[in-house]
Amino acid sequence: MRILVTGASGGIGAAICSKFLDNGHEVFGMDIAPAAVTHEHYTHIVHDICCEPYPEIEGVEVLINSAGVQRQSADDIAVNLTAVIAVTEHYAFQDRIRSVVQIASASGLTGSEFPHYAASKGGLVAYTKNIALRLAKYGACANSLCPGGVITDLNKHILEDEKLYQAVLDESLLHRWAEPCEIAEWAYFLACVNRSMTGENLLIDNGEALKANFIW
Ligand SMILES: NC(=O)c1ccc[n+]([C@@H]2O[C@H](COP(=O)([O-])OP(=O)(O)OC[C@H]3O[C@@H](n4cnc5c(N)ncnc54)[C@H](O)[C@@H]3O)[C@@H](O)[C@H]2O)c1
Repeated sequence: MRILVTGASGGIGAAICSKFLDNGHEVFGMDIAPAAVTHEHYTHIVHDICCEPYPEIEGVEVLINSAGVQRQSADDIAVNLTAVIAVTEHYAFQDRIRSVVQIASASGLTGSEFPHYAASKGGLVAYTKNIALRLAKYGACANSLCPGGVITDLNKHILEDEKLYQAVLDESLLHRWAEPCEIAEWAYFLACVNRSMTGENLLIDNGEALKANFIW
């Protein structure tokens, strides 16, 4: 299939590109940064998702929006929500589309982290339901993934501070963060295996939201 991945140079986006390439798909990656993946079936497009017009890519069958920022400012809404909506409206609404997967965040469900970031990801979860309604006529599914902590550059300052990292891990039930390749597995399943779940969201947070002290 023909796959478009935004944020393709980042930790999660690059892992998603590799997963689809390993499984014989044709992948287009879009990012403001240079390519993180080299493969004969990979085409890298340097483009800011906030800037229209978008480059033409015929017949996208799977769209995965992984581009995102956490700048603790209105940029978070501009990139993570407004631009993701524009990208999706541009590439997904055509006859070849089979699946859209949005990389949202646990923050969008719990409200944790930073105001604009939480709002951008919560908005993305709601927008995913909206497109599920409108993409059904193409026989396509749309779902979101809400990761908790993932080991990528987005969290560099935590990963570089052992004490802080341990304190953060203590907040999750399974005492770990996900690897980008795990999120790629979920994205692949939603895009290529799943045919019946649409408008839904999966929380992949190592039990962080579930962890609570039971007081009796
Ligand atoms: N890492 C985590 O803990 C975590 C948790 C939950 C959700 N997420 C989400 O997962 C997605 C991927 O994050 P990541 O951890 O791989 O981070 P990352 O910083 O490694 O990757 C993000 C990528 O998006 C690209 N990007 C940013 N703004 C862009 C723009 N305007 N146009 C095009 N590309 C742009 C960056 O260049 C980068 O390559 C993001 O949407 C993030 O919010 C990450």
